Amino acid sequence: MSAPKKLFVKTYGCQMNVYDSERMAEALGTKGYEETKDMAEADMILLNTCHIREKAAEKMYSDLGRLRPLREANPDLKIGVAGCVAQAEGQEIMRRQPMVDLVVGPQTYHRLPAMMDKVEAGQKALDTEFPEEDKFAHLPKAGKTRRAPAAFLTVQEGCDKFCAFCVVPYTRGAEVSRPADRLLHEARDLVERGVREITLLGQNVNAYHGEGSDGMEWGLARLIREMAGIDGLDRIRFTTSHPNDMEDDLIAAHGDCAKLMPYLHLPVQSGSDRILKAMNRKHTAADYLELIARIRAARPDLLLSGDFIVGFPGETDADFAATMDLVKTVGYGMAYSFKYSARPGTPAAERADVDEAVVNARLQELQALLTQQQRAAQDSMVGRVVNVLFEKAGRMAGQMTGKSEYLHAVHVDGPETLRGQIAQVEIIESNTNSLSGRLV
Ligand code: SAH
Ligand code: SF4
Ligand code: F3S
Repeated sequence: MSAPKKLFVKTYGCQMNVYDSERMAEALGTKGYEETKDMAEADMILLNTCHIREKAAEKMYSDLGRLRPLREANPDLKIGVAGCVAQAEGQEIMRRQPMVDLVVGPQTYHRLPAMMDKVEAGQKALDTEFPEEDKFAHLPKAGKTRRAPAAFLTVQEGCDKFCAFCVVPYTRGAEVSRPADRLLHEARDLVERGVREITLLGQNVNAYHGEGSDGMEWGLARLIREMAGIDGLDRIRFTTSHPNDMEDDLIAAHGDCAKLMPYLHLPVQSGSDRILKAMNRKHTAADYLELIARIRAARPDLLLSGDFIVGFPGETDADFAATMDLVKTVGYGMAYSFKYSARPGTPAAERADVDEAVVNARLQELQALLTQQQRAAQDSMVGRVVNVLFEKAGRMAGQMTGKSEYLHAVHVDGPETLRGQIAQVEIIESNTNSLSGRLV
């Protein structure tokens, strides 16, 4: 047998891309490729890209440009582009960067092995279809190699919501839920390989409505409850949810399912009803606040996280003030905020932009508030005992790092053997982006 060829994968964007990158590496494993962390020794470089904001897409092009010297030094080096930019731009990528050998979309990467045959024969390969078949059913079975203690698992993909600013419905396609049996099987397999925490992924994960083991349609709450029955699986999370799909049984699960962690990412984007309507979010700020109250009634210590867009076309000072008010009312433990980025093909891209200086000032103001809230949530942990799933060695010698139930990064002084264990930790200090504690 010939020496394994080396594959380098760079992942941009969301957690689903992280999951997809793992699956693509497994698919290319069947063609004799082994993953490397060193780009310089790669025989194949695969960029798994994100199209959500202009910056994300442009980053891919500048990274591609930087691969040129590697390609010149090694003409046999193969270069591929996967993910949401591949889906959105397809052939255009090869036009802009002729050294790209392969372009594959998020729904066709199970065809990578056959595409690689073409590429290795010196041809170009491009596949950005939305195929009939389910890619997951055609991917190779994962090996039995040990896994990190926390893993992602895609349960739902695509989106039918068509928010006016968002490319996801175009790049990932229509909403599809995977059958529960396959997911439970994959979850058990992950647990056998050392996983203790699984984050269920979907662009609209709480819209999950897959076929259940009993032939009935299951919602996300049912899937979570079944997964909670897996011995050795200790923690379940899910992301990302839409407020309009937050059904009663899922809210209840936050109160009565011990393995479901007290953290919820529930983006609202804006606090202004006018802007929410223009964004096609299909709910009001009051609806969201009422929902948050119900979720907090089920799980009072829940840490809430969100996403915000500032400078959506037509956003006035009053609209922005409404967003600030909503943030103050809710109190987020964690939040992401972005400047609106016009995306080709989305309805909002046709509308006039807000003045850039105004947007910058608003973003700063919002981020200052969100940072303050995040810090307050962290500081409130000092003196408390939390459960930490230890994932890896910390930056300092003798230090281990993991995540609390609330998804805070926690450092302790402790032995390597903590890796993969859940231990009680008393929090003693709140740092900029993490907590320090001592083992109880
Ligand atoms: N439901 C998806 C959301 C993906 S986009 C998921 O699974 O994560 C993540 C966030 O990016 C959105 O919640 C939104 O706040 C932001 N976003 C999406 N499109 C954007 C755009 N055109 N400009 C700025 N931010 C955007
Ligand atoms: Fe994009 Fe999320 Fe809206 Fe779907 S629900 S269109 S993924 S922002
Ligand atoms: Fe980006 Fe595609 Fe995820 S656009 S955020 S990689 S779904």
